[in-house]
Amino acid sequence: MKPIPVPHERILPADPRACFLAHREEIETAIEEALAAGSYVLGPAVAAFEAELAAFLGVGGAVGVASGTDALVLALRAAGIGPGDQVYTVSHTAVATVAAIELAGATPVLVDIDPGTFTIDSARLDTAVRTHGTSAGRAVIAVHLYGRPADMPESLMSDVMDAVQAAAAFSKISTNSR
Ligand SMILES: Cc1ncc(COP(=O)(O)O)c(C=O)c1O
Repeated sequence: MKPIPVPHERILPADPRACFLAHREEIETAIEEALAAGSYVLGPAVAAFEAELAAFLGVGGAVGVASGTDALVLALRAAGIGPGDQVYTVSHTAVATVAAIELAGATPVLVDIDPGTFTIDSARLDTAVRTHGTSAGRAVIAVHLYGRPADMPESLMSDVMDAVQAAAAFSKISTNSR
């Protein structure tokens, strides 16, 4: 077999520096305003963000938290998920999705992806749920990845969704199916 040539160009999975440079002025102004106002926690900027995000998603409200991981842990706790519960999610996601389930005290149950979309394989999820059941306390975290909504059957649609990488995709699902 011929060796596969190694590309000379490095392909980065993410380039936060390029993102910063693209929006530098806006980011620096916002940081300066927060520092000058002495308002580091919550405050008017967070309230404005929450209102803007809720309008963008077409939902009744949005709550700003410190990180995507915190959002998932809080959502699981709010849904009453805790020790002794199992939560289905997809095997190909940020480690934070699984960490959040463990931080809530529950046990993750990983379901494989559909190789065509890299999001959860809904047929395998259906089989897993049929095999292990959906008794009280069990939940599904759908992960919408790379801007793509996961293909979730309505019957398995979870209340907790990880849309860290696909907020707009979530908004599409939300308006279509809820
Ligand atoms: C799909 C997904 N879920 C959760 C997270 C966790 O977000 P944070 O790093 O803000 O805790 C990430 C972060 O990259 C993510 O990509």
